[in-house]
Amino acid sequence: MDIATTPTNPDGNRELADAAPTPHEPPVIRREDYTPFGWLVPQTGMRFELGVENTRVTATLKVERNPEAKATQELRLNGDGLKPDAVSVDGGASDDWTMDGSDLVLTLPGTSHEITIATTLNPSANTTLMGLYASNGMLCTQCEAEGFRRITFFPDRPDVLSTYTVRMEGPKDQFPILLCNGNNTASGDGDDGIHWAEWHDPWPKPSYLFALVAGDLVANSDTFTTMIGRVVDLNVWVRAEDLPRTDHAVESLKKSMKWDEETFGREYDLDLYNIVAVSDFNMGAMENKGLNVFNTKYVLADKDTATDADFDGVEGVIAHEYFHNWSGNRITCRDWFQLSLKEGFTVLRDQLFSQDMQGEAVKRIEDVRILRAAQFPEDAGPLAHPIRPDSFREISNFYTATVYNKGAEVIRMMRSMAGPERFRAGTDLYFDRHDGEAATCEDFIRAIEDGAGLELSQFRRWYRQAGTPRVAVSQELKDGGVVLTLKQTVPPTPGQDVKAAMPIPLRVAVHCRETGAIGEEQLIVLKLDEETFNLPLAGPVPVVSINRGFTAPVIIDRDLDRDDLVFLAASDDDSFARYEAMQELALKHLVAAASGDLDEAGRAAGKTAICDAMRAIISDADLDDSMRAELMTLPSETYLFEAMATGTRKADPGAIHNEREQLKTAIGVTLKRELEGLYARTADTGYDDPAGRGARKVKTIIAGLFAASDPERAAIMAARQFDAADNMTDRQGALMVLCGLATPERDARLKAFYDRYQDNDLVIDKWFTLQALSLHPDVIRQVRELAQHPDFTMKNPNRVRSLYMAFAGNPQGFHAADGSGYRMIADVILALDPINPQTAARFVPSLGRWRRIESVRAGLMKAELERISKAEGLSRDTFEQVTRSLD
Ligand code: ARG
Ligand code: ZN
Repeated sequence: MDIATTPTNPDGNRELADAAPTPHEPPVIRREDYTPFGWLVPQTGMRFELGVENTRVTATLKVERNPEAKATQELRLNGDGLKPDAVSVDGGASDDWTMDGSDLVLTLPGTSHEITIATTLNPSANTTLMGLYASNGMLCTQCEAEGFRRITFFPDRPDVLSTYTVRMEGPKDQFPILLCNGNNTASGDGDDGIHWAEWHDPWPKPSYLFALVAGDLVANSDTFTTMIGRVVDLNVWVRAEDLPRTDHAVESLKKSMKWDEETFGREYDLDLYNIVAVSDFNMGAMENKGLNVFNTKYVLADKDTATDADFDGVEGVIAHEYFHNWSGNRITCRDWFQLSLKEGFTVLRDQLFSQDMQGEAVKRIEDVRILRAAQFPEDAGPLAHPIRPDSFREISNFYTATVYNKGAEVIRMMRSMAGPERFRAGTDLYFDRHDGEAATCEDFIRAIEDGAGLELSQFRRWYRQAGTPRVAVSQELKDGGVVLTLKQTVPPTPGQDVKAAMPIPLRVAVHCRETGAIGEEQLIVLKLDEETFNLPLAGPVPVVSINRGFTAPVIIDRDLDRDDLVFLAASDDDSFARYEAMQELALKHLVAAASGDLDEAGRAAGKTAICDAMRAIISDADLDDSMRAELMTLPSETYLFEAMATGTRKADPGAIHNEREQLKTAIGVTLKRELEGLYARTADTGYDDPAGRGARKVKTIIAGLFAASDPERAAIMAARQFDAADNMTDRQGALMVLCGLATPERDARLKAFYDRYQDNDLVIDKWFTLQALSLHPDVIRQVRELAQHPDFTMKNPNRVRSLYMAFAGNPQGFHAADGSGYRMIADVILALDPINPQTAARFVPSLGRWRRIESVRAGLMKAELERISKAEGLSRDTFEQVTRSLD
């Protein structure tokens, strides 16, 4: 699971190169060049003699000619930074091999052979966190996408499936626990304090699903009984001091296993399921067969250290990795261009699961917010790519919001068109037809076509074309009905100038503003560039509610009256449509104001309409507070930036920020009484009350509004909330508000928070993030100072993200008019690239948005990208992202 979401700021903001390679440029890999590998590797045996500074790996590969590939004597085994200590073929030392770059190439005369290769690794020196590395004295691995080649020479591609038998040996005091994929078949003690364990994984798997962990760990253990009555042992492994925070992870795993049986008919297929939490991890988690490795952030949670959102994050990521056992492991990807086959589908599966666990309406809104914050900007910028990319230089750069989140939306559209039952028939057929295979997106589409009875030939364009489609809506009254005219355009993206129309499924209904009558919903599918649809009237003043539930990942361009939006925000029967109307109301006002299109009267009228709508939401007794909080959340600055940067207009982050702050002030002033009343009610709701979560969400939003309208009061309120808090959600919410205020309360509470949690890395990450994301005018200086803090390190990705990813998502700091925010992030990229290129490259997209921003800032951003591009020895990761961003 990717860490696709950036932290949240006080207001709930979330914030290909085709040229022939020169000798210094990493080559471009193309989807159309796929050919099957010349050899099969039915069995792999491995022996690990483990040491933090010195690990010896001996791998034995049984290889056979692949009857489905062109016959070849050449066996090319990928390596990355490896030197073979010894190579033998069929039991005898061999000289019949050469190194070609970092690959080891053997010439094999026969049709089947046994190859043994020994390599030596230094896990403690591995700061990339790919392959075998050390974290807090333990050893662990990350192999997806191409990390296995940093452990041993191997055909490191997902279409080579092998059955692994692994022997691990190491000092028992240092590594009392030895874990690998599959089942533990034997273990014992050797001489000199060494112990060993043998593991066998009966399921053939690609090398990227290999995993090993050795360390001093304890488990929270449980069992799950599958639908046919098999008992599976479950373990969540952590350091001893973290054990009290693992119950939620175990519960989440059991819920996931049950849900996947009930919803997709998928049963678990081993007797053991291990999860290990590690503190140094590039991403969210990894679905290695029978041995998931997780970022601690997605395992550990308790009331005192984790927010409600953190609890949901744990549940969602545990589910995601568990669901990969079928969508990813039993059926894997033929090549990395097919990544969305497993990731898009698995994200959809985890979203549906979380909808069932937490409530559909709010979860859907959250997922759309993430899509808009992370994927829409990607699709509108230099790094835009289809969910099934055509080329890459470094696959790690394609673990993107497009492949994951848009990939999920695309499959969700199939589900909306088929309906849940027929969709299930489609996925059943897919699992059945391709079990044990390395499949393609095309295989998935065909299975859904055959199983669900859909015709998806035009729909395949969603896999080929990048860019967020726009749908322009206009309406006309005719013959006692509404004629809706829809026009679609798919914008040009790098390498794709001309786009063809795509099928866009939209749930629509026509309500009546005068009588309040709610129209009946139907699903229409826009297939042509332009098309009309006749819809029945529910009453004399029609208001069209469109893309209800966000059926399609598109931008709707419609020009509704303010009154219509206010009506939809208050009365639509679709929760998402209500949220959307509220967003649109605020967005239209803010973009117009930031663009200088409003006079004083227009400005005042806009603010009044928003305050009125907000007032209605505050007093709507039928709303639960979780949904109320969504409706009260203003569009993020990132989303406003996107909306402002349309057509030839450029975004002005400074103007957006000021207008949004002014609107918050106006709301805080105008609705003072109502907000106070709501705060008082929600402040009385206890932590375990079923209404508690919603109450906590509302409270922090209100404190944030008061921070803009009456900072002194807000400081007192937030300090009180902080001091009284019996949970992390309230504590963090209060501190978030305080961080943006220049008051004595701020420093005292920041210190108290630090002192209380200094031994808890995940909470100290929050401490960094709150400051880096803050609305404080001095945020740049504060971030610079925090980088000098003894707890800051460039070696731990969570810590780097907690400070710098948060800062890059703080519009006020990052877009400082003098360019100092851009410079800081460019310096981070340059400093991090030699240590951890994968994480360094993830900072590039923030600078890559220069083309859509006003010219002064654009020039500053571009200059930073150019400075990075001139650096010597850039990694493949950063090189690719920077080049694409400058093209
Ligand atoms: N397959 C993992 C997940 O989405 C992500 C691992 C990606 N790792 C990487 N180093 N690119 O669950
Ligand atoms: Zn995944």
